[in-house]
Amino acid sequence: MMQTFWSTMAKRATPYVPGEQLNDQNVLKLNTNENPYPPSPSVIQAIRDAANVDLRRYPSPDLEQLREIIGKTYDLTKDQVFIGNGSDEVLAFSFMAFFEPGKTIRFPEITYSFYPVYAQLFDIPYETIPMKADFTLDIERFYHSEGGVIFPNPNAPTSIAIGIDDIRKILEHNPTRIVIVDEAYVDFSTQSAVSLINKYPNLLIVQTTSKSRSLAGLRVGYALGNEGLIQALIRIKNSINSYTLDRLAIAGAIASFQDWKSTKENINKIIQTRTWVSEKMRDYGFFVLPSETNFIFVTHPDFSAKQLYKLLKQRHVLVRYFNQPPINQYLRISIGTDKEMEQFFNCLSEVMASCHSLS
Ligand SMILES: Cc1ncc(COP(=O)(O)O)c(C=O)c1O
Repeated sequence: MMQTFWSTMAKRATPYVPGEQLNDQNVLKLNTNENPYPPSPSVIQAIRDAANVDLRRYPSPDLEQLREIIGKTYDLTKDQVFIGNGSDEVLAFSFMAFFEPGKTIRFPEITYSFYPVYAQLFDIPYETIPMKADFTLDIERFYHSEGGVIFPNPNAPTSIAIGIDDIRKILEHNPTRIVIVDEAYVDFSTQSAVSLINKYPNLLIVQTTSKSRSLAGLRVGYALGNEGLIQALIRIKNSINSYTLDRLAIAGAIASFQDWKSTKENINKIIQTRTWVSEKMRDYGFFVLPSETNFIFVTHPDFSAKQLYKLLKQRHVLVRYFNQPPINQYLRISIGTDKEMEQFFNCLSEVMASCHSLS
C-alpha cells in the first residue's frame, strides 16, 4: 500500500546506511572517519563573512573561482575540475555520466558500501572482485572490464593503498573504459594518481574536503580528470540542479584551498597518532592492516568484533562494525586526537577484561 505511487527506481533503491551520528557530546565518535581537529580559522571566518545580504542571490553555477584554485593545487586547469555537494554526489553523478545499464562494472568485494547502492539505483550491473588473502586488491582482475572500474585508493574500510604503478596498469588494460579512483583518504597516504591525469584520458579521480580538510559538515567534494570527462559531469549536474554548492560552502572551500599549511599540520598529527595507536593495538593482540588513511581496520583472534563493538558502545565509544562476511570479525576505528585515543584504550582494556574470549 505504502509503495503504491513509487517509481520502479524508488522501489529498487537500497539506500546507504551512514555511520551513527549521535549528538551526545559524551560520546567518543570514532565511527565515521571525521577529522578530530577543527578546520582552519580562516575557513570559519570566510563562512562568517559570506553570511551576508548576498544570500538572497543564487550562488555561482559554474564555480569558476573554486575550480581555478583547486586546479592550481594539483597543477591542472579549472576545466579539469568538477565540484559537487560532497564526493558522494560527485560519485553519484559519475555513475550517471560514465556507466551504462547493461554493461558490467567492477569494484572490489570489500569497498565503500555506496558503490553497490548507486549501481542498483541506476540499474548498472556490477561484479565484485574478491580481495587477495591479505585484503589487497587483485589488480589483474580489474583488467578488460566491460563497463568500467571504480575503487577507492586507499581502500575503505581496509585502509590499504595500492601504488601508482598498479593504477597505471589498470588504466592501460582498460583503454576504452573509465577508471574512477576514489581518493577520499589520499592525503593520509603518498599514493595520489593525480599526476597520471594528463596521460590517461580514461582516469577520473574523486577527492573530498571531508577528511583531511576537516570539512565533512560543509559538503564539498570534487573530481579531477580530462576536460571531456568534466564536461560530462557538468551536463549531468545541470540536468539535475545547477546550484549544488551554496554560497557558504563555496567561501569555506576557497579559504581551505588557500591554507594548505593548517591542513597539513593536522594530517601529520593524525599520521603520528595512527602510528602509535597501530603499535598499541598490536600490543593488545590485534591484527592491524597497514593503514594509509585516518582510520585503522583491526581484528583480534580471541575476541568477537561484534561483542567488542557493543561493549565499547555501552561505554559511549562508537567504532564501525560491518555485520557482513568476510569482514564481520573486523572493526574500523577512526583516528582521533592523542587524548581521545588514550580514552579509547582505557575503555578497550575494560571491555577486553570483561569480555569472554573466543578461545
Ligand atoms: C571511500 C569514500 N568515498 C567517499 C566518501 C564520501 O565523502 P563525502 O561525501 O563526505 O565527500 C567517503 C566517506 O566516508 C568514503 O569513505
